[in-house]
Amino acid sequence: MTDYNRILVTAALPYANGPVHIGHLAGCYLPADIYCRYQRARKRDVKFIGGSDEHGVPITIRALKEGITPQQVVDKYHGMIKDSMEKMGISFDIYSRTSNKVHHETASAFFRKLYDDGLFEEKETEQFYDEQSNIFLADRYITGTCPICGNPNAYGDQCERCGSSLSPEQLINPRSALSDAVLVKKKTKHWYFPLQNYEPWLTEWILTDHKEWKNNVYGQCKSWLDQGLQSRAMTRDSSWGVKVPLPDAEGKVLYVWFDAPIGYISATKELTENWADYWCKEDTKLVHFIGKDNIVFHCIVFPAMLKAHKGFVLPDNVPANEFLNIEGEKVSTSRNWAVWVHEYLVDFPGQEDVLRYVLCSSAPETKDNDFTWKDFQARNNNELVAIFGNFIN
Ligand code: MF3
Ligand code: ZN
Repeated sequence: MTDYNRILVTAALPYANGPVHIGHLAGCYLPADIYCRYQRARKRDVKFIGGSDEHGVPITIRALKEGITPQQVVDKYHGMIKDSMEKMGISFDIYSRTSNKVHHETASAFFRKLYDDGLFEEKETEQFYDEQSNIFLADRYITGTCPICGNPNAYGDQCERCGSSLSPEQLINPRSALSDAVLVKKKTKHWYFPLQNYEPWLTEWILTDHKEWKNNVYGQCKSWLDQGLQSRAMTRDSSWGVKVPLPDAEGKVLYVWFDAPIGYISATKELTENWADYWCKEDTKLVHFIGKDNIVFHCIVFPAMLKAHKGFVLPDNVPANEFLNIEGEKVSTSRNWAVWVHEYLVDFPGQEDVLRYVLCSSAPETKDNDFTWKDFQARNNNELVAIFGNFIN
């Protein structure tokens, strides 16, 4: 027996600042696709929502580095990602993008509603500014000397030599990771969402009512809640993103983790005029497929936003997978250590299902897993060709 009449499935919107690799497929898109195909086979009313996440610092940085505009960056990678997804048979009902008009309007109205209801705190703080690139920087875009081990190339969020987690304030001689300029401090005003106000509700909703969530998901939520939640800035200083819809907010945009999940709603609007049935009716089952680095945003931040806004369903489940390593090493875009889907499609034409099979046999469901070409070959030859092929014969 089920008490829901429609299923809304989302898969994390990949950043349009690079192509997708097989870790993305194994962690998020393939499991979501299999789930949707299964529900369609059961004749369920299911909508499968996806799209590109086209805002945020990684995209502006990529544009600065390549000497092109952010719009050129996202146009290029949105096209590549969409094509890879299609060719791999990821059966989205819509694959949209957050730079489009519907999304800007939807995200803007969402922010405005929370603002009008008095749910933000306005705060002025000092942040690091790169006067050469004219950009406020945070986290890993700031480098400097580690106060603990003296590593001269530590990041604003972490020192990779000694493993300490850091804040930019702790770095000695903080510099811009973009231009190497010495950073200055500048005052800036932002709108903060007081997550701590939703803590009692979140604690009960997750820790009591959703004990069935996967261990890795439940465990991460519990540790966030145990540590206590804090206000988070929901706006940023940038020229790229959804403009903050307030009169005194020149040069400010919505924080990418505020606008991106609203992209699921915008994409559903684009897909069907009945979008509100999927988002607002209690007999909808909403399921977010994500990778483990997205857990806090989908289980804590976005549900708190939906709850604050009122009128939306909340996720019924948030299945998150762990990471897929390649030949024993972590995927690294900067070191080009990845199996890129668009390259696989060229090197193994017509073999999309082989990759789907291998990735779902070794999906990193409960722990990080390893992809090796030896295993790929063995699974193809021994399982698909020998066992399955002979069985069909
Ligand atoms: N772009 C993010 C990432 O790749 C995921 C965004 S999911 C969304 O990690 F919900 F915000 F859209
Ligand atoms: Zn260190």
